[in-house]
Formats: sequence, C-alpha cells, structure tokens
Amino acid sequence: MAFKIISVVGARPNFMKVAAICEAIKEYNRQGGSPSIEHVLVHTGQHYDANMSDLFFNDLELPKPNLFLGVGSGSHSTQTARVMEGFEKVLLAEKPDVVLVVGDVNSTVACALVAKKTYWAGAAGRPVIPKLAHVEAGLRSFDRSMPEEINRIVTDALSDYLFTTEDSANQNLRREGVAPEKIHFVGNVMIDTLLRYRAKAQESTILSDLQLHENARIKSYAILTLHRPANVDDAATFAKIIESFLDISRHMPLIFPAHPRTLKQIQEADLGDYFVDHFMEGPEPWDSRVRIRLVPPLGYLDFLHLMSCAKVVLTDSGGIQEETTILGVPCITLRENTERPVTLTHGTNVLVGADSGKIVDEFARIMRGARAPVTPPQFWDGHAATRIIQLLVEDHAPMERAELSSWQDGESAASVRPA
Ligand code: UD1
Repeated sequence: MAFKIISVVGARPNFMKVAAICEAIKEYNRQGGSPSIEHVLVHTGQHYDANMSDLFFNDLELPKPNLFLGVGSGSHSTQTARVMEGFEKVLLAEKPDVVLVVGDVNSTVACALVAKKTYWAGAAGRPVIPKLAHVEAGLRSFDRSMPEEINRIVTDALSDYLFTTEDSANQNLRREGVAPEKIHFVGNVMIDTLLRYRAKAQESTILSDLQLHENARIKSYAILTLHRPANVDDAATFAKIIESFLDISRHMPLIFPAHPRTLKQIQEADLGDYFVDHFMEGPEPWDSRVRIRLVPPLGYLDFLHLMSCAKVVLTDSGGIQEETTILGVPCITLRENTERPVTLTHGTNVLVGADSGKIVDEFARIMRGARAPVTPPQFWDGHAATRIIQLLVEDHAPMERAELSSWQDGESAASVRPA
C-alpha cells in the first residue's frame, strides 16, 4: 500500500521549499522506492495573486495542486480559521499517513493544528491521527510580537518530526524539551531549490528588462525587499527607512520588487514621491533621478538572477538572508533580530534594524569592499529534501539501510541526541 503524504503550500515562501519535497518524492518513486509515495499537494490560497503564486508554480515546475482551499486574505484569526475549516475536510477525505508543513506562515500553523486534532477510524475501529512533519523547525527570533514566531512555536510543539536547517534550531528545540529522537538535522530545502535552479536562472532576461547593463557589463545595483508589518505598517517608520534608501539610490540603482502589502501602504500613506514605477515611466538614465525603482513582485527565476548579480540586498525577509548566504551577496537585514543566526556566522548577513544611520553605514562599508568570508552551513548542499523523505519512509516502514542508500546520494541527516 502506498505511503501517503499531504504537503501544504499557502504563501510565497512556501513554494520553493515544497518544490524540493516534490522533487525528492518524484525521484524516490522514479527509482522504485518501496513503499511508493502517494503525494497530495494542498494550496490554501493564502497568497493568490498571479505574481505571488502562479509564477512560482511555473518557474519551479510544481505540480498543479490537487486541492485548492481559496482562503485569501483576512485578519490572522480569520485566515487561520478558514484554512483550518478547509483543511479538516481534506484530511478526512484523504486520510494521509503524514501531513508535511513548511516554514512559519499562517497556513503552516493552521494545518498543523488540524493535523493533530483530526482523526478517523482505522483498523479495528482504532482512531488514526496522521503524523505531523515540520520542515524548518526550531528557528526562534525570541520576539513574540512577530506572528511567524507564534506560528513556529505552536507548529513545533505539535510536530512528530522536526526537520531542522541549522544547529541553533536543534539547540532551541532541546532547550524547549522536545524529545531528541524527534529532531532531525537535515539541512535547508530552500537551498536545495536554489542550487537546482541557479544555472537556469541565468537565462532570465530581468537584467535587460531593467536596463541594468552598460557597455555589455552589468551595472552595480542594489535590491530592496520590505514587507514586515513592523517596517511598513506604520507610515512614519516606513518613511524614515525610505529616507535612508534614497541615500543609497544616489550611488546606484535601487530596485524594489514590492510586496502587495507594501504597495498598499505606499498608496495609503501617500509615499509615492519617493518612488518611480520602472515599467510605467519607461527607460531613463538611472542617475537622472534619485528615487527608488518600484517593480512588481518577481517570479522565482527572475528574482534569483537579480539577487545573484546584485552588489547588495536590503531586506526584512527570512528566506533572503539564507539565499544570500549561499550566493555570497552582501545582505543588510532591516530587523533587530534573526531566527536564522547561521546567516550571521557563516553568511553575509548583518542586522541593522530600522536605524537609518546603521543602514547607510553598512552600505558604505560594503562599498569599501569589506566582506567576510562565507562558509556554507552544514547540510545546505542540495540534499535536504532527500534526507527528509528517507527519514519519513524509514520510520513508516523500516527497511534495510542498504536499500535506501542506493537511492539517497547525499550525506545522512544527523540525529540530534542530548549533548
Ligand atoms: C506572509 C507571511 C510572512 C511571509 C510573507 C511572504 C504570515 C503570518 N506571514 O505575510 O511570514 O514572509 O507572507 O510574502 O503568514 N496580498 C495580496 N495578494 C496576495 C497576497 C497578499 O494582495 O496574493 C495582500 C493582501 O492585502 C493581504 C496582505 O497582502 O492582506 C498581506 O498578506 P498575508 O498573506 O496576510 O501576509 P504577508 O504579509 O504576505
């Protein structure tokens, strides 16, 4: 009988993570893995715009979701409740062995809650509850004002398999009393996807679309991404941060693929004068105006290429801190903390908060050529999803290691035992 896994995607940062899981399952089945895996992909619809969702399905060759819940936007509670209601029906109809959730968005915690509160009658009428696997477990910013931190804590507390990306996560989970046998240090599925698509991304035309070539060479440019409520929801804070970006845009083009929530805030707070709409206003010599170039949210391949060739990335995203670590591109993070400290110790990441002075100083330091050496964190090697699927299969139907090792070609995951 097939081993049934339901994976959940909801918001943009989920797509590149689940893409790696889909690929590992496809490869496992292609190689005749036993038991075979029946994979059901559920899209909650938390993100629904073409450029927040559909573009990623195309770029990442994701299969069409088997089920779409269409929850859309709403307050945190509304959105979470809608996902829970829809996902409960899915579980009762599909009766999976494992529910796999990734990251820390509202869809993650909603489906985790449902997975551990829904059961059906199994053999001899005994209740069956699916196992819950959390990919990217254990990350902690220790800032409970972030909705993602609440989502991470709750999801981890409920999970049977906690798949971690870095050692700080193993330590956090141990400190919180999670049984060591539940914690599996497997690496980073988002980096699996980055490594898989890095070469293909070079075919993107985004640099010429944005006129970032000069005399057949790539100009120096910076990228900005900003969407966290703490940075954009308050108009005064947002305006202050933008002032420091203007300083940067005096030195080089600053490209800003803006998230829908950020665009809304630019309109509502009447901050439009700081920006030019790149595509609306058409090509212009970059240095004729000191303003930030707004572009729509980009697809995966375009953004990966744009990020790979950038002089510097300014961001408040979690995932971009990790991607720049592997790409070796300097990353200035507009947050006071990070749940991903390995990007500070091994990568290019520097935290500056919303402090304009620090943003500008850090930019100046990068312009002077100051760069720390980058060391890829352990297991960020393109094989994290394979390790995850191997562990799930082994646990579901224990089999000889030899059988599995013929399929798995990466280094094994590290079991986390008490120190
Ligand atoms: C969510 C995640 C965040 C992640 C981010 C990446 C949570 C709590 N937050 O934040 O961790 O970093 O996604 O993008 O789950 N909107 C659209 N079209 C869309 C999606 C959103 O217009 O396709 C607008 C809506 O006005 C919505 C707002 O953006 O109200 C915010 O969207 P939401 O999904 O609630 O949270 P994000 O800020 O995107």
